[in-house]
Amino acid sequence: MNTLIVYETMWGNTELIARAIGAELSSTVTVDIVDSDSAPPSIEGFDLLVVGAPTHAFSLSRPATRQEAASERNAPHVPVSGVREWLQTLSRTENAVTAVAFDTRVDTPRLPGSAAKVIRRELRSLGFETSQKAKTFRVHGYEGPLVDGEPARAAAWIRSIASARESNR
Ligand SMILES: Cc1cc2nc3c(=O)[nH]c(=O)nc-3n(C[C@H](O)[C@H](O)[C@H](O)COP(=O)(O)O)c2cc1C
Repeated sequence: MNTLIVYETMWGNTELIARAIGAELSSTVTVDIVDSDSAPPSIEGFDLLVVGAPTHAFSLSRPATRQEAASERNAPHVPVSGVREWLQTLSRTENAVTAVAFDTRVDTPRLPGSAAKVIRRELRSLGFETSQKAKTFRVHGYEGPLVDGEPARAAAWIRSIASARESNR
């Protein structure tokens, strides 16, 4: 099984979750981890896609919210192209490749809206198999760090998805 993990990040929290997922999968499958600026336009050759992004303004980031993160909150990394833009260029999958979505969001206050739900919806409309519910991982404030235990929770989440796929083969 070849897995592609695509993430977007401003402060590194979503990347840490992506890497925890990658580390968990890499003992059994081949894993490529790329950020949204370098993600490929097609998932040809992969049979599992994992996509994660921070929630901005109740949804996926936009150029304006990324700019706000940079200019008002000194975010150390500002993607030119976020997951929203990447999904707009991603080719349809003809063979219903499985895709799962996650996001990061502030722990308190709990706000409505989820980037992961938007990712999942977009992936479904591109023909991916998206029966797995989207998952949220929590950060302290806008900058992080991650709430204790979130990387381990991410590893357990992907482990359960991978083993369900194995037993369905
Ligand atoms: C402009 C902006 C808007 C945000 N809006 C939300 C929001 O609507 N809901 C939420 O839970 N977190 C919101 N956040 C917090 C982000 O989710 C948080 O910065 C992110 O999870 C950190 O992940 P990263 O280090 O990978 O960028 C916002 C952050 C920024 C910069």
